[in-house]
Amino acid sequence: MNRMIFKFLLLCLRLFPAELSHSIFIFTARYFWFLMPKLNIPQVKTHFFGRELKNHYGVAAGLDKNAQAIKGLFKMGFGFVEVGTVTPKPQSGNKKPRIFRFVKQKSLLNFMGFPNKGSDYALKMIKQYKRKNDEILGVNIGRNKDGTNADYLLLIDKFYLHCDYITINISSPNTPNLRETLNNNNMLEELLSSIDDFCTIRNISTPILLKISPDVTNIQDIYDISCKYNIAGFVLTNTTIDKSHLPNKFKNSNLGGVSGLLLKEKSESLLKHFHSLKDKNKFVISVGGIFNHIDAEDRMQNGANAVQIYTSLIYGAFL
Ligand SMILES: Cc1cc2nc3c(=O)[nH]c(=O)nc-3n(C[C@H](O)[C@H](O)[C@H](O)COP(=O)(O)O)c2cc1C
Repeated sequence: MNRMIFKFLLLCLRLFPAELSHSIFIFTARYFWFLMPKLNIPQVKTHFFGRELKNHYGVAAGLDKNAQAIKGLFKMGFGFVEVGTVTPKPQSGNKKPRIFRFVKQKSLLNFMGFPNKGSDYALKMIKQYKRKNDEILGVNIGRNKDGTNADYLLLIDKFYLHCDYITINISSPNTPNLRETLNNNNMLEELLSSIDDFCTIRNISTPILLKISPDVTNIQDIYDISCKYNIAGFVLTNTTIDKSHLPNKFKNSNLGGVSGLLLKEKSESLLKHFHSLKDKNKFVISVGGIFNHIDAEDRMQNGANAVQIYTSLIYGAFL
């Protein structure tokens, strides 16, 4: 499909509630994958854990939660796609409505709470799609609302043979107490050491990445603990809980995370801070408020190895 027509259709989707528009997008990318347009993404080859990526632009987690639209997303020209967050068991997530658009600010607020069809379903979808050599797939994993750290081990075991990397998501603001693990060094150490032990015993070499919140204050500790337990890279960042630039109705809400333009500064600043810590073997994916090639190149200049987009796609960027 022509890019301009697709952009127009995206505009029309704004007439619907945000989550319905999202479902229509995924339905189209799944069943009418051949209609998906090629995005205006520079095709500059880069490296990813010894593999070649056709470009350094990826789809961020949350867009294709159930791994249903992989084919359509690769058809759009992305170098890599991160599906999920997948939890072991299916769960319905938080009460709707749970995604809000702020068109003027080119931002979204969501408090989804990992709604997904569960890991068996996602695995079935992933196995169904025969990936080409240069199509890199990541699986973003999280625990169920009532789950424990054992959930991550179960999910690594399930997916490691079927993807190119796994992202541990403990940075979503929408699952009760999830971010405590990121903010509490002892809890983080407990989780990452159990993952490291598990991977060593099972001889799992699939790179494990950690997704970080832009609101953390213990970044040096997170980095040190991650290095100690063989985390191969980082995804910077998830959504922010800072709602100070949203309309009054949402400003004081305890719920949800903001993405898009209102996240850009925070995401950039964490990346810069991170770059000053990072040893060059750690892979960094920068995500948050990337709307054009200049934004993406800025991130690469500041130490990112690749970038991901989500909200800007919804607002018609790269078309
Ligand atoms: C509606 C919505 C759902 C999301 N769901 C997830 C998720 O399930 N797992 C995750 O790691 N990140 C999730 N994210 C965060 C994105 O992956 C990304 O980190 C964040 O939106 C910043 O990128 P952006 O500004 O390009 O959107 C979600 C974001 C949005 C807007």
